[in-house]
Amino acid sequence: MIHSTIVGTGSYLPGEPVTNDDLVARGIETSDEWIVARTGIRARHFAAPGVTASELALVAARRAIEAAGCAVDDIDLVIVATSTPDYIFPSTATLVQAGLGIRNGGAAFDVQAVCCGFVYGLAIAEKFIASGSHRRALVIGAEVFSRILDWADRGTCVLFGDGAGAVVLEASSTPGVRATALHADGRHNAILCVPGNVAAGKVTGDPFLRMDGQAVFKFAVKVLGDVAQEVIALAGVPQASIDWLVPHQANIRIIQSTARRLGLPMDKVVTTVDRHGNTSAASVPIALDCAVRAGQIRAGQRIVIEGVGGGFTWGAALIDF
Ligand code: UT7
Repeated sequence: MIHSTIVGTGSYLPGEPVTNDDLVARGIETSDEWIVARTGIRARHFAAPGVTASELALVAARRAIEAAGCAVDDIDLVIVATSTPDYIFPSTATLVQAGLGIRNGGAAFDVQAVCCGFVYGLAIAEKFIASGSHRRALVIGAEVFSRILDWADRGTCVLFGDGAGAVVLEASSTPGVRATALHADGRHNAILCVPGNVAAGKVTGDPFLRMDGQAVFKFAVKVLGDVAQEVIALAGVPQASIDWLVPHQANIRIIQSTARRLGLPMDKVVTTVDRHGNTSAASVPIALDCAVRAGQIRAGQRIVIEGVGGGFTWGAALIDF
């Protein structure tokens, strides 16, 4: 059996942190107290006008490749999870492949599972590697959510930020990625969406992110607890053997509630939501890379990553690092 292991991580956050007080100064009717109390977010990063998801992805990818110590042409699969692609087509993954100078004719495609996109991408890459068709995958989450925020909607615009995170996943004789679980329930597609499209040369519908915050909150708390327990059971390992939970970074209250369900103290949970806000598909790989570079997550440790996002989609992976 061919296993797969993460051999390098990287991330990139554009520009300087934008604090809650900075948002107030920009005229948004909110306060640092409200945002911190309801979400735990203190700051986020926004890409400068004109900067695209593929540009953020490229920086994160180069850092992951450098950490992996491989050559770009060793990468035969590029997957970019994004809901804010550069274009309708070509895919952001093909732009990243070209930007990196990969010329080996490997596969490259985008995955659209909103905030769960990176977990979907990693699970797909693991299955490609297990099948023997590919040997080394670059899996990226990259977002410029600032482009789809309605700055007049204080219930959403304070929550999100821009950024990118990446991993190199490589075929190995020992696991690695021990279990993955992916789910979706399309009946809930309207509680978190950007319900617009481009047709006949113009945007039809609504090009901004819309969310029923309380419905999303309840859904997220339930499925994130369930899916983490599911991958632990699938891997057949004791819950107590988990060294780190790396959850989607949307709201500290959601993260705390998942940790409680798993019986994990918060010092075993990677949190970056305070510094980065919700970077959607980028949140899990950014949090992972921050924890690796801070010396928190180390070789030989066991982690669970998990995500939940519009669709609704949710999923998790249990990984021996
Ligand atoms: O990747 C998944 C993405 N999304 C999420 O995970 C978000 C999940 N949901 C949440 O995190 C929470 O529902 C929110 C943080 C979005 C909102 O918290 P809440 O406790 O559900 O607040 P709410 O929407 O019920 O609003 C409570 C009050 C309202 O005022 P009234 O009606 O009680 O007078 C809002 O108008 O807070 C007000 N409010 C704000 N006040 C200051 C809403 N947004 C803001 C704001 N600043 N930014």
